[in-house]
Amino acid sequence: MKKKKYLVTSALPYANGPLHFGHMAGAYLPADIYVRHMRLSENEVMFICGSDEHGVSIMLNADKQGVDYKEYVDNWSKQHSELFKKYRIDFDYYGQTSEPYHAEEVTKWFHALNEKGLIGTKDSRQLYCSDCKNHLPDRFVHGVCYVCKYEEARGDECPHCGTLIEPEKLIDPVCQICKSKNIKEVTVTQYYLLLSKFHKEYRKWFETNKHWRKTVWPYVDSLTKKELVDRAISRDLNWGIDVPLPEAKGKKLYVWFDAPIGYVSNTKEYLKGQGSSDHYLRDWWKNDDTNIVNFLGKDNIIFHCIIFPVMAMASGIINPPYDVPANQYVNLAGKQFSKSSGWYVDANSALERFGTDALRYYLISLIPETADTSFVWGNFQAKVNNELANNIGNLVNRCFKFLKKNWKDGIDAGFFQGFHESEFGLSLKKKIVEHGILLDQVQIRKGLDMVMSIGHDANNYFSEMAPWAQFKEDENTAAKTMAWTTQYILALGVLLSPYLPDLSGEILSFYSDILTRDQEVELYRGNTEIFDKIFHKGMKVSVKPKALVPKIDDDVIKELEEELAAKT
Ligand code: 2FM
Ligand code: ZN
Repeated sequence: MKKKKYLVTSALPYANGPLHFGHMAGAYLPADIYVRHMRLSENEVMFICGSDEHGVSIMLNADKQGVDYKEYVDNWSKQHSELFKKYRIDFDYYGQTSEPYHAEEVTKWFHALNEKGLIGTKDSRQLYCSDCKNHLPDRFVHGVCYVCKYEEARGDECPHCGTLIEPEKLIDPVCQICKSKNIKEVTVTQYYLLLSKFHKEYRKWFETNKHWRKTVWPYVDSLTKKELVDRAISRDLNWGIDVPLPEAKGKKLYVWFDAPIGYVSNTKEYLKGQGSSDHYLRDWWKNDDTNIVNFLGKDNIIFHCIIFPVMAMASGIINPPYDVPANQYVNLAGKQFSKSSGWYVDANSALERFGTDALRYYLISLIPETADTSFVWGNFQAKVNNELANNIGNLVNRCFKFLKKNWKDGIDAGFFQGFHESEFGLSLKKKIVEHGILLDQVQIRKGLDMVMSIGHDANNYFSEMAPWAQFKEDENTAAKTMAWTTQYILALGVLLSPYLPDLSGEILSFYSDILTRDQEVELYRGNTEIFDKIFHKGMKVSVKPKALVPKIDDDVIKELEEELAAKT
């Protein structure tokens, strides 16, 4: 079978403040699970991310703290990268868009698009603050709404009447950077990406993507059916990548022009660091055997489904994506996370308290694949205690303790036979195959539900057979029950590996003497006949069984709920 290539990316987070559970469950955890699944399915996979380090918000926050821009983004980039590692979100490469290698790639894209006639200039009117000397992006000017007279209308939208504001029409505009009212209108020339020229070609490609999610394809369809609108891609700022033309002195590329190119420049940098003979374009981004899959939150859809694909196709540098599994939002107890108003849970301290498995387990159940979801401490506790600890942790612990105690020299191979042909084994095989299909389709929540349903089957089998009672009657009958339960648990250990790599590793450590990586992969794909090979010499428990999933106390949850309630 020819191996497929998967180039998987997660949206580059802004190096501009802490990440919360919404980010984790929206763009990073699902991508990590998908990558682990694809690796276990024997594909060649590359997983790329990095930080997005330009833009006005970053400049404003760094200025507020009196820190140099580069120092500011380096610090956040490092913190994010460390947090991802703790969550076991294992990127192959985590780059930075403020590094010279990235500017080099972006410059190449600009020239390619320019040569193809996809870049032009246009004059537009813009607000300028004479005090802080900034051209004011829409979000950085507030004023009185010219439609409803609401006093705190933003330069992009009036939160009171919903009008899409034209900032130069705002009454009494105020600069949000320095609070000055000394604002004038100036004419500025900016560079534009001439998307309108590419409408026909874009739609031809877009029509081939009906496999995209129901929350993505129809939305993009409605936005692009009639036309594509040209977009400004330059800004008058002093932080960013230069517009690489002599006549564009002082102009920087808009952050959204350079950010997605970060996927590509980071791949190049990764391969270079590995000393790989692969070429980042020929072997990956521009290779027709590569499936490019971009994970992101719904606010990034337009850039990944319209603008970047046009840049890709029009420049001819890379292929457009095969899939864009965009997620909805995760809220906190029903309301949007907001660091500034304190409605927020720190992803780092939560992890230190509860560990990676517990948090990953709950966050997976919150992946907002079809609709917004909500993080609630009480639900976190219930999921971990009632599902992960009871269904998986207890079963593994009880089974191996009993086995170690009563079969000190192990259980003979003969007792393992017959499982995969039995009704239990056949049903297990069917579920493993269905599980693979679910993850191929990026249905991650359903995938984990399937694994947990195998956990239920295993628990039912174990408690109905009641080996502790069988043991008193006939040791051999009990040995068979233990041998069959052990095969169920092995399947669970293998299937949990994309979701909970740490817990899976602990479960699989019981089998480390007898299991090879190839056998693990076979079993993951549903080849349950492999059980006979794995257990051809029987099995002995040499690892000391312990509680694998600590239960979470009521007191701890109560305290966290109170902490949060105090913020409302
Ligand atoms: O919305 C965001 O957080 C952006 N930094 C995402 C960029 S994704 C990609 F294009 F880099
Ligand atoms: Zn100002």
